[in-house]
Amino acid sequence: MNIVFLGAPGAGKGTQAARVAEELKLVHLATGDLFRQAQAQGTRLGLLAKSYMERGALVPDEVTISMVLERISAPDAKGGVIFDGFPRSLKQAEALDKALTEQGETLDRVIYIKVSEGELLKRLGGRWICRQCQAPYHEVSSPPKVAGKCDRCGGELYQRPDDTEATVKKRLVTYFAETALLIDYYTRSGKLTEVAGEGDVDEVRERIMQALKGEFVRPR
Ligand code: AP5
Ligand code: MG
Ligand code: ZN
Repeated sequence: MNIVFLGAPGAGKGTQAARVAEELKLVHLATGDLFRQAQAQGTRLGLLAKSYMERGALVPDEVTISMVLERISAPDAKGGVIFDGFPRSLKQAEALDKALTEQGETLDRVIYIKVSEGELLKRLGGRWICRQCQAPYHEVSSPPKVAGKCDRCGGELYQRPDDTEATVKKRLVTYFAETALLIDYYTRSGKLTEVAGEGDVDEVRERIMQALKGEFVRPR
């Protein structure tokens, strides 16, 4: 099963993708996480990505697409993938369709997590993430058990440099100009299911699992 989680910055893609991937034994592929990992390792890809991320712009399609294609060609991805934050442009969506078709696979469903703009700003303003495993926390809605430390791996928590008010605004502009077009693209292909992203994390997870239910029983 291959699933895309689509939604604005702060909609809860990462939070939900981690949980659903664990439950359904799928690979969680988050392009933002891969770019941050590359930055932490100081690679050329990391340096390049940084210059776009700090401006709230998209990393160029060719770079992003080749990174994703490499990841999905690994053996563990054959069991299915949740794409978190990819595709983010029409070109990326077409590249994904083509790559999956070439591998004899399909994109089964796109979960569009919808959250109001006011709520997105609240979520990003209070977010902390783990330096090691990138698990997201929120100082009000989902604080870690021990302040400053990741529940999952004990890693140090930090605030993303692109979560400042000014950069969040730019990320939202980019989202509405480039990524929101994919809502139409996937509605036309009949793959999109909209899920209300407000309410607590477990409630939203339950809605997503309901939306995916039809896909579990479908013979492959
Ligand atoms: P990326 O890291 O993907 O950032 P994003 O899309 O802006 O999304 P976020 O990670 O900010 O939000 P999320 O939806 O994952 O929310 P989360 O679960 O953390 O991309 C960063 C940058 O990398 C881009 O700007 C771009 O430059 C580049 N990039 C990445 N992919 C690219 C691509 N395909 N092409 C080109 N460039 C690309 O939740 C947010 C907060 O809310 C957390 O604090 C969480 O605890 C809290 N929260 C979650 N759910 C709830 C809930 N139900 N109730 C209350 N709080 C909640
Ligand atoms: Mg994320
Ligand atoms: Zn961690």
